[in-house]
Amino acid sequence: MKYNPDSTTFAGNWKMNGRQDDTLDIEKLIKLISEDDANIILFPPYTLISSFVNISKNSNLNIGGQDCHHEDSGAFTGSISASMIRDSGANFVIIGHSEVRAMHGKGPDNIINKIQSAHENNLITIICVGEDIKVRSEGEHYNFISKQLKDSVSTTSNRNNTIIAYEPIWAIGTGNTATIEDIYEMHAHINNTLQDTDIFKKGNPSLLYGGSVNPENAGEILSIDNVSGVLVGGSSLDYSKFNEIIKSK
Ligand code: 13P
Repeated sequence: MKYNPDSTTFAGNWKMNGRQDDTLDIEKLIKLISEDDANIILFPPYTLISSFVNISKNSNLNIGGQDCHHEDSGAFTGSISASMIRDSGANFVIIGHSEVRAMHGKGPDNIINKIQSAHENNLITIICVGEDIKVRSEGEHYNFISKQLKDSVSTTSNRNNTIIAYEPIWAIGTGNTATIEDIYEMHAHINNTLQDTDIFKKGNPSLLYGGSVNPENAGEILSIDNVSGVLVGGSSLDYSKFNEIIKSK
């Protein structure tokens, strides 16, 4: 596993997609990215973590889980803990994706407990923040994101185990990418807010943008100040599109 907070990060969140047959495409992707110095991470469904970890050993590709429960084990039907993700060979986990927040607990305690459990199990966390269209139209988006960030910084956080992804909900899976100005302004806001915390006083974590990123818009998004990578949904399912995004930096 290699993660350098000063390199560009390309993360692909497969959501509820993928079958064992897809390992063939992962082998092709690994060949295409062999010389790349970026952080490249795929988040397949839990069922594929072990096989993707096996194929990607000794390559530039890292594997992560899409969420974790805050407890280590117990009577939580359908859930997966951070230690189980680590046990399957993955090194990363996404926490607080808006699709998970909408289904399960939205409470700040839930998010912070998941983050702590992930860090205790040596997983690097991609923490998602993002407002819905109602919050944005009311002009409350900066306050909303500040609050989500405040609830996402744990005493266990540092710039080597934490990545923040700004994913405005209205831009996810809609084809409506946020404008360059929207992304620039929100990433500057996130950067300033994190700098003001004791934890990140010495250096901020990597900040990613997510929401309808594709091979056509990735280059421009990656050139925005304070954008150090992208969290890609739909376009990461096709290995050649994901590779085009990686090569667009
Ligand atoms: P899309 O790239 O499909 O909009 O999804 C973004 C996302 O939710 C990644 O976590």
